[in-house]
Amino acid sequence: MREFNAVVLGAGGVGKSALTCRFVKDVFVETYDPTIEEEYSRELVVDGVWSRLEVLDTAGAEQFTAFNEVYIKSGMGFILVFSLTQEATLREVDNLRRQIYRVKGANARVPMVVVGTKSDLTTEREVSKSIIERLAAAWNLPFYETSAKKNWHINDVFEDLVRQMRDR
Ligand code: GTP
Ligand code: MG
Repeated sequence: MREFNAVVLGAGGVGKSALTCRFVKDVFVETYDPTIEEEYSRELVVDGVWSRLEVLDTAGAEQFTAFNEVYIKSGMGFILVFSLTQEATLREVDNLRRQIYRVKGANARVPMVVVGTKSDLTTEREVSKSIIERLAAAWNLPFYETSAKKNWHINDVFEDLVRQMRDR
């Protein structure tokens, strides 16, 4: 079985841990407990083929972002997370994307997926579908809207990333 590793990055409180825990343990974490660093692993079938995926859930808090460079060096694939309910968190996705290309090389083909979380919170939504679709197209990255609470499109994110890592 082939093994891959993915790093989950994004601003504090956007839902990185909720996304990861829904994928790895199929539970929704309601309470907010800021992460320092957690590593998980799960096997999954993508297009009929089993793989093992290690997922590193990182800290969004400012005081830990110095570790991002280390994570980027060791990561094969990246999940760049922002909250659909907080437009300001999109900026961190762009920063991370730039940092990844700085570390991996501007012309490197780096497996990456952009994720907008909390799609169930429709009345609190701040980022329209058209804005993020335009950005993702400009970045040339796949984009998914997810809800860890409702379990919407969680697996799609990880399957897309495994496909990219496999085909690299
Ligand atoms: P740091 O570890 O500090 O970087 O935060 P994080 O990005 O890991 O955020 P976390 O997953 O802990 O989620 C923060 C809060 O948002 C928690 O209270 C979650 O329950 C909530 N949350 C996360 N995802 C969703 C979602 O899809 N829907 C709703 N309604 N709430 C969510
Ligand atoms: Mg967390």
